[in-house]
Amino acid sequence: MESILNQDTLAIIAGKNSEENSGTVNVPIHRTSTVLFPTLKAYDDAEHGKAFYKAHKNLKATDFSYGIGGTPTNFALEDAITQLEGGDKTFIYPSGLSAITMTLLTFLSSGDHVLITDSIYGPTRRFCNKELKRFGIETTYYDPMIGSKIRGLIQDNTKLIFTESPGSLTFEVQDIPAIVKVAKEKNIVTVTDNSWATSLYFKPLKHGVDVSLHAGTKYIGGHSDIILGTITTTKEHISKFSRNYIDYGVHASPDDCYLALRGLKTMPTRIKAHEEKALNIAKWLKKKPKVAKILHPAFSSCPGHKVFKRDFLGSTGLFTIILDKKYSFKELSHMIDPMKIFGIGASWGGYESLILPFDPASIRTATKWTEKGSCVRLYIGLEDEDDLKKELQDGLKRLG
Ligand SMILES: Cc1ncc(COP(=O)(O)O)c(C=O)c1O
Repeated sequence: MESILNQDTLAIIAGKNSEENSGTVNVPIHRTSTVLFPTLKAYDDAEHGKAFYKAHKNLKATDFSYGIGGTPTNFALEDAITQLEGGDKTFIYPSGLSAITMTLLTFLSSGDHVLITDSIYGPTRRFCNKELKRFGIETTYYDPMIGSKIRGLIQDNTKLIFTESPGSLTFEVQDIPAIVKVAKEKNIVTVTDNSWATSLYFKPLKHGVDVSLHAGTKYIGGHSDIILGTITTTKEHISKFSRNYIDYGVHASPDDCYLALRGLKTMPTRIKAHEEKALNIAKWLKKKPKVAKILHPAFSSCPGHKVFKRDFLGSTGLFTIILDKKYSFKELSHMIDPMKIFGIGASWGGYESLILPFDPASIRTATKWTEKGSCVRLYIGLEDEDDLKKELQDGLKRLG
């Protein structure tokens, strides 16, 4: 359901229920395993699905009968993300990866076939290659720039198309509307990992995608101190997720949901700052002699830039630079190790800047990586832009 409020306002008020919580601004942390009932009848009603399953269809904080199904803290976060994504229902998972794997397990059965973008987050690929294969589910990786040509890869048993736009290392922006159009004709479910753009800058469900998921670990949490995942979907698929959620015993900690809710309130403001600093730094880097190419969706050098301009509402803090040549591990260490502001570490979405070299050639299977120079992924945090530029400038000087 679409809100008429500006997203900045929506992020602040969505999920808030002070009147149910003694007037507190933030939804409290409800921790529990056991939920107590006043009568046997009330317990019986809850246990027999009247409230337990309902807890995952509507958001009444009183409708829960055992902590594993979530507590009012989890429900408030579900509600807030649902509103920002413009969906019908959100489920919270203990990690972004578990949101991904549970989505795959929700829709796929033995004998099915799934199409996954070649730019996919590494552990999603690992899950498909190991676990889905073990269950007799076949995976085909496709060129992220495939668009409507995805039609040629569809088999009679294709049940799901997974997109990630842009890819979080190589930043190809996928033509999701074109893929969705083909998928709908063939009754195939579409899923988007929307972690990079956040609910603010891309609206997968508006473009017809069935499931939009996030590593809440990133921008939603925003402070590098939680691991969490979310999926948002439409009415059509709610019951499948509700059932699986409970049958697999999925549970996200209310403490982490609290931190995610708190993070969500400042997400629009943080994202604008990341966006501005990242764009300025990328523009500045583009002119540096040792930088051959910028892979940032807002730059024309990035595959899918036109689609980005058509479908996205803005950009965020993560992008890649391709250097003028292949540098050795030692040379890259010489560039990066002395840095004091940029941290060397996986993940992103927090307030701190990060830097990490990587090699796409060793990961791809459906497409060939033809760029000659070393790739370095940058995550631009909330530090001062000039301080970050200075550190990058010094690092580039040390290179080679
Ligand atoms: C694009 C993307 N999706 C999903 C995930 C998984 O999130 P989590 O670390 O919460 O499992 C990540 C984590 O790096 C990611 O970058």
